[in-house]
Amino acid sequence: MNIGIIGTGYVGLVTGICFADLGHSVICVDINKKKIDRLKKGEVPIYEPGLEDLLRRNSQEGRLKFTTSISEAVRNSLVIFITVGTPPKEKGEADLSYVESVSKKIAESITDYKLIVEKSTVPVETGKWVEHTIKIYNRKKVKFDVASNPEFLREGSAISDFMHPDRIVIGVESKKAKNLLVELYKPLNAPIVITDIRSAELIKHASNSFLATKISFINAVSNICEMVGADVLKVAEGMGLDRRIEKTFLNAGIGFGGFCLPKDLDAFISITDKLGYDFGLLKEVKKINEQQRELLLKKVEKELWILSNKTIGILGLSFKPNTDDMRFAPSVDIIKSLKQNGSKIKVFDPQAMDKAKEILKGITFCKDPYDVAKGADCLIVVTEWNEFKELDFNRIRKSMKAPLIIDGRNIYDPDKLKALGFKYVGIGRK
Ligand code: UDX
Ligand code: UDX
Repeated sequence: MNIGIIGTGYVGLVTGICFADLGHSVICVDINKKKIDRLKKGEVPIYEPGLEDLLRRNSQEGRLKFTTSISEAVRNSLVIFITVGTPPKEKGEADLSYVESVSKKIAESITDYKLIVEKSTVPVETGKWVEHTIKIYNRKKVKFDVASNPEFLREGSAISDFMHPDRIVIGVESKKAKNLLVELYKPLNAPIVITDIRSAELIKHASNSFLATKISFINAVSNICEMVGADVLKVAEGMGLDRRIEKTFLNAGIGFGGFCLPKDLDAFISITDKLGYDFGLLKEVKKINEQQRELLLKKVEKELWILSNKTIGILGLSFKPNTDDMRFAPSVDIIKSLKQNGSKIKVFDPQAMDKAKEILKGITFCKDPYDVAKGADCLIVVTEWNEFKELDFNRIRKSMKAPLIIDGRNIYDPDKLKALGFKYVGIGRK
């Protein structure tokens, strides 16, 4: 099938390349010419394990093309996916201006039947507006359908999440649209939830908000663990063995970041406020998440007393491991607050250094974790990269001014580090 992908970001690019790998013929569009030029040369502008190989292979086999022209993509496609950014506005509601402008350009280019699919995460009722926009600008009055097909890709595992999804959600208003999408996804042989557009849009926001709720729940429990001297890892283990709770997304730490959970939580709160429903639970989830970063800073102050002129080493900058994505990364808030208190900051991240250099100024970018530890009064684990799990702690301890480790992602064994002469502080640990 001929497919168009409008917006080659973290989601659009993975979606387009994976569809090509399933044998479809895909043409990807982006407004950013630099990005398109790099993709034409076989370069992936983001870090996503395995993506560059798939890009090169499918481009060489002629199933994948890149352009900045929406009309070229529309003319050559039967199904067109909208995967442009839906960033949060000032008060948290989703900025849908890119979705609107792309819908307009699609409408101006269609000359025969097309299925236009919103894959970007959008508030409920956006599909109605996409349809309305296309109707207005569809000069040739060509028949078309609109559908919703939300993505559930996690950065760092996006290819496997695409190829082995727990479920595919399709929101459609016509049999033709349903048949096209069922055929498109048939090679994945995955459970398909077929519903109306509004329900499909809600499934996405409700799913991400539930994941955020799970994380904030265990983070709240971690604070109680600290008060009573319990171990949150054991509590989470005991909870997660209950199949109704399940063990994933019960890792206590400095909270969630990234371009999805925070943004989708804010958008869901905003749309429900507008609908007249006060989603107090989600407002509390957001508050707990923000407090986790403040709690980490309180731990640093409790150990160092005076922060000014102290050297603080930060291990990990990306919002989670196996990605270079710095959007809404906890590290940004933590570093900003430490700098405001006069601390000197040294950082290392295996993948996110380039992106971090664009947003973090006045800090020292180091070449490895040992360089970060040199002369540091304190070492804080912010992102749980595997590279940080088996460090030479004797070497680390000898090079630090004081052997203090604050483990923001609970990746170390407290007893092991204490035996090596460190003061260890975790999140909800004894
Ligand atoms: C996007 C949505 O923001 C998110 O809500 C959804 O869940 C998945 O798709 P992401 O892929 O991470 O997330 O966004 P981003 O990395 O910002 O990529 C968006 C791309 O769209 C960018 O490459 C941008 O250049 C492009 N774009 C944006 C266009 O091509 N045209 C536009 O008008 C606006
Ligand atoms: C998320 C959803 O998982 C995915 O389904 C959706 O399509 C996009 O948003 P992503 O943001 O890429 O994916 O990463 P995810 O693995 O969900 O982690 C999100 C944040 O939660 C990260 O900052 C991570 O550090 C944090 N997290 C995750 C926790 O703090 N504890 C956990 O137990 C799990």
